[in-house]
Amino acid sequence: MDILIIYGSLEGQTKKISEHMADILQTNGHQTTTLSSEHLPTDFQVEDYDAAIVGGSIHINKYPKPMIKFVTRHRDWLNATPSAFFTVCMGINSKRPESQQQALQFGQNFLSQTGWKPMLNETFAGAVKYTQYGFITRYIMKRISKHEGGSTDTTRDHEYTDWDRVAHFAEKFAAMVTAQEKSKSAEAEMD
Ligand SMILES: Cc1cc2nc3c(=O)[nH]c(=O)nc-3n(C[C@H](O)[C@H](O)[C@H](O)COP(=O)(O)O)c2cc1C
Repeated sequence: MDILIIYGSLEGQTKKISEHMADILQTNGHQTTTLSSEHLPTDFQVEDYDAAIVGGSIHINKYPKPMIKFVTRHRDWLNATPSAFFTVCMGINSKRPESQQQALQFGQNFLSQTGWKPMLNETFAGAVKYTQYGFITRYIMKRISKHEGGSTDTTRDHEYTDWDRVAHFAEKFAAMVTAQEKSKSAEAEMD
């Protein structure tokens, strides 16, 4: 099956997670196309694909606009196709239960607002890339990290993504897509 992966990523962590998922899906026998929701090719058509994963990171409680636009525009296709959604943020990694709870709400609220019903919905911890931020963002992120129990060492970047959880998500989706493919070809044989 040809699986489309669309990501909305501001500092690259959601892109990195998407690319890791693509590697796993390929290992499981699928073809993949990984694209930024911000830069879709002019001849892009969702109908060219058999399944889709969409992921987006959170910045100041919001997903990237191009990713929201993609899901809104293709909601009916996504609902008619094997699909999965994931969120990347830092709240999920907080020592404070209320921040973790809020992090889980991002995905749930987005899905109920858009009406998309993916087969999987997961939230992964992202990264704090102090070396890539400007002075003000670095200062704010350091304060937030201190409050939430993350590292305040601004001399380097900190990756919190649990790659085993990412792999599990991709493998589960690969198995779901394979099962769907088998049941479709069994149906076709019966016709
Ligand atoms: C300016 C800024 C704002 C952020 N706001 C939030 C937020 O509101 N909630 C949260 O859980 N994480 C927040 N984060 C953490 C990001 O979601 C995290 O760094 C993620 O890895 C970014 O993914 P990306 O590189 O794919 O954009 C913020 C990060 C930055 C730099």
